[in-house]
Amino acid sequence: MQKRSKIAIVGAGMVGSATAFSLLQAGVAQELLLIDRNTDKAEGEAMDLSHGVPLAYAVQVKAGTYEDCQGADIVIITAGAAQKPGETRLDLVKKNTAIMKDIIPQVVRHTPESILIVVTNPVDVLTYAALKISNFPESRVIGSGTVLDSSRLRYALSLETGVDTRNIHAYVLGEHGDTEFVAWSRAHVAGTPLAEYYANVLGRPLDEKTKSDLARHVREAAYDVIDKKGATYYAVALALNRTCRAILRGERSVLTVSTRVEGIYGVPDVCLSIPCVVGRGGVEKKIPFHLDDEEVKNWQKSARAMAEFTESLPIE
Ligand SMILES: NC(=O)c1ccc[n+]([C@@H]2O[C@H](COP(=O)([O-])OP(=O)(O)OC[C@H]3O[C@@H](n4cnc5c(N)ncnc54)[C@H](O)[C@@H]3O)[C@@H](O)[C@H]2O)c1
Repeated sequence: MQKRSKIAIVGAGMVGSATAFSLLQAGVAQELLLIDRNTDKAEGEAMDLSHGVPLAYAVQVKAGTYEDCQGADIVIITAGAAQKPGETRLDLVKKNTAIMKDIIPQVVRHTPESILIVVTNPVDVLTYAALKISNFPESRVIGSGTVLDSSRLRYALSLETGVDTRNIHAYVLGEHGDTEFVAWSRAHVAGTPLAEYYANVLGRPLDEKTKSDLARHVREAAYDVIDKKGATYYAVALALNRTCRAILRGERSVLTVSTRVEGIYGVPDVCLSIPCVVGRGGVEKKIPFHLDDEEVKNWQKSARAMAEFTESLPIE
């Protein structure tokens, strides 16, 4: 009998439950398992989702424990605390690293061949922590990275250019957060460099102001949503859906997930987002990506910001 595809989600909060809903609606895996330290929350979400199964796909949706992770192809980790007012980023790193130390050994014990996708913020630091704690090969420890930010950018560019988002190829690289940057030099609309598209089709230059306004809009998007509704979860759920599909179907899709990038443009041992080929093995290839001089500086700045945390991570 063929093995059933299975995704476990640790953390059944806003992001975890929205992700489960998105995966169920698209029939991405045959089994979905929700785990949360708040067992009522996990059970309630699983019940609610399971009541829609006959209207969606034949998916088994359950709440459970780490033992139930056995045979999971993918384990998505969204458990964690959000940054509280007055709390520093370092406080958050310490708190969420402790949560990773609680969760990951239990996951590894029960599903040692799975692919881990870390979503909890700060995602690049915690992806690195997950890599160290799990001792998994780096291809199987993925951060949700800037898949979401690149999607935000493509949506904004589609409104600017009047072209379907699927024909916009543009990437946000580096940290998922304050030091992220747009690789403008590589952006194109179906093969036409973006600057050329602006000049020849829109009749205006892709000038510094346009670029910095777009980059700021993308970088601050999460803050804007959080200001208005308290949290972001639908778009990240779709980013996770896209990443899980690429893995389970062996799609070899190019996605800007967070991965170990030591040595790329001379950076230390940290995790950051670059375009990766994502398939059945997780990160199957990291695409050597040409950046211009300013982009290289931005990349190195992101890496320095991450190294400040990863060099002293409380994981031993
Ligand atoms: N990477 C991204 O693109 C992205 C986007 C949105 C949110 N996030 C991050 O995702 C995380 C979750 O956000 P949310 O809105 O779902 O938060 P939430 O508070 O709604 O959910 C977090 C859940 O984790 C559970 N939890 C906490 N510690 C646990 C543990 N040790 N074991 C099991 N479960 C535990 C809590 O009970 C809660 O249900 C946050 O860190 C947030 O910043 C990341």
